[in-house]
Amino acid sequence: MKIREKNNFILIGFMASGKTTLSKELEMLGFTRLSTDEMIIEKMQMSISDIFSNYGEEYFRKLEEETIYSVIEILKDTSEKYVIDCGGGLIRANNFSELKKYGEVCFLNVAFEEVVNRLKYDNTRPLARDKEKLCKLYIARLEEYKNIADFEYNGAGLEDFIITLNLE
Ligand code: S3P
Repeated sequence: MKIREKNNFILIGFMASGKTTLSKELEMLGFTRLSTDEMIIEKMQMSISDIFSNYGEEYFRKLEEETIYSVIEILKDTSEKYVIDCGGGLIRANNFSELKKYGEVCFLNVAFEEVVNRLKYDNTRPLARDKEKLCKLYIARLEEYKNIADFEYNGAGLEDFIITLNLE
């Protein structure tokens, strides 16, 4: 079994892979939770969809990069354990490798069919509107997530995560 070296968890994965749910469960176990999407919404006082439609995706990606620096500032100066719920595209930011130094990067690997099923009634994710494009993005991202992750986890639930990550 791979040994966990760092205190914090950085949850990555495609939209609707369960990062938010898992991060909230870990919060109940004593982790302090940060969500990069929520930090952006708070900063902009605007939904992700509105940021995309008013300013475009590129601008959103810049906000993600800035958010990574904010998260690093927090992680640098704390002895608390953190869980970071990352937006699905955060791994593509130039400074993601900086963030990676502060925690174990856990890839929540969920099948595309399951993603589509979970996103059926979702209208908060601008990149999920066109299923064909979504599928292409999923395929492109899969390798990227795998390459950057320290751990891979199939999203079977908190108990399984605890065992996979050798928590406690
Ligand atoms: C995105 C994922 C979303 C959000 C934005 C873009 C992506 O976060 O950051 O809609 O590029 O995969 P979730 O992964 O939390 O849905």
